[in-house]
Amino acid sequence: MTVDWAAVRDDFPILRREIDGAPIIYLDSGNTSQKPRQVIETMNEFMRTSYAPINRSAYRLAGEATDRFEGARAAVARFINAPSADEIVFTKNATEALNLVVASWGGANLGPGDAVLLTHLEHHANIVPWQMLAAKQGFELRWVPLTADGQLDLANLDRLLAGAKAFAFTAMSNVLGTIPPVARLVQAAHQAGAIAIVDACQYVPHNVTDVQAWNADFVAFSSHKMCGPSGVGALWGRIDLLNEMPAYIGGGNMIADVRLDGFTTAPVPAKFEAGTPPIVEVIGFGAAVEYLESIGMAKIRQHEMELTRYALDTLTARYGDAITIHGPDNVELRGGVLSFAFRDIHPHDISQVLDQRNVCVRAGHHCAKPLMRLLGVNATARASLYLYNDRSDVDALSNALDGATDIFGF
Ligand code: ALA
Repeated sequence: MTVDWAAVRDDFPILRREIDGAPIIYLDSGNTSQKPRQVIETMNEFMRTSYAPINRSAYRLAGEATDRFEGARAAVARFINAPSADEIVFTKNATEALNLVVASWGGANLGPGDAVLLTHLEHHANIVPWQMLAAKQGFELRWVPLTADGQLDLANLDRLLAGAKAFAFTAMSNVLGTIPPVARLVQAAHQAGAIAIVDACQYVPHNVTDVQAWNADFVAFSSHKMCGPSGVGALWGRIDLLNEMPAYIGGGNMIADVRLDGFTTAPVPAKFEAGTPPIVEVIGFGAAVEYLESIGMAKIRQHEMELTRYALDTLTARYGDAITIHGPDNVELRGGVLSFAFRDIHPHDISQVLDQRNVCVRAGHHCAKPLMRLLGVNATARASLYLYNDRSDVDALSNALDGATDIFGF
């Protein structure tokens, strides 16, 4: 069955909003995505009719809220083909999910003489937590370099993995769009005796995700990049690892018992969910995955590949050498993230000029400063696509760049 992409676009009320009498062209979904009415209405309805504490109270309303909350956990587990909903830990976002793994698993397993392998594609959430722990516990950080077109250079992967205890890498770069061969990287990590941690916050919103096919050990992602609310994300982890790991944040809900001389922890996932969680947001996260499932992730990926190809072709045909779009040219190897340099106009100026035409793009370092340095730039402008975008948005971007050409006198 074909998807009516115009109807999909219509699900997003904000895209009908006008500024200065013209609609918004939203091309910043790599930063955060817009929300469909199905998610907005589910959260609204839950707050109007069923809001109550979860896990704590015996009255029926609280039981109903707890069932809805656990239903969302089951939906998120199904969405990534996790073997069990118990392996889904709700966090604040992908950043917190990665910090949890680093602090808890890394805190218990890494010390002097150990090594962790990262890649030059990583954004700060998969760099800084490791640097913080390495400074305390004295292990080595190693890096997989990039090829000229922004793919991982895997020529020396086995050597880099030799003796490493963990390999943590993105499933899709937020700057270059690069999609590394996740299952192959996981297999290489396991062969070397390392665990594999996948930062999938840019991947899960745009692709079919199957954590069992990846055979990874941990996968982190965020609701807000996949049509759900901000304030909630998820860590999927192998149950044996989650069971062994020490608790991360202490407080209510994560304990089995507390005495004056110590505490015992609740079973996973409660062990990692201290305090009152973002209840409404988790319900919204569940609604978001149901919304994406109703369209089909394979169809969303196909739509975005076609649109990415159209964007690459349109912008290079129109602007030639005046535009440099970073990352692989093959859309099978990349997502719909287009980081670009345009003439020698500063990315912030580009973003401001585009904003005059209601075209919303991100300009800056994209929370990936080491990668910016490797590209030899301080910043890029970045247009990022999602299921609600169509060719008219790409055309609007292309036309608005002409405005930058005029203003800066090229
Ligand atoms: N949210 C960040 C981005 O825009 C990391 O890519």
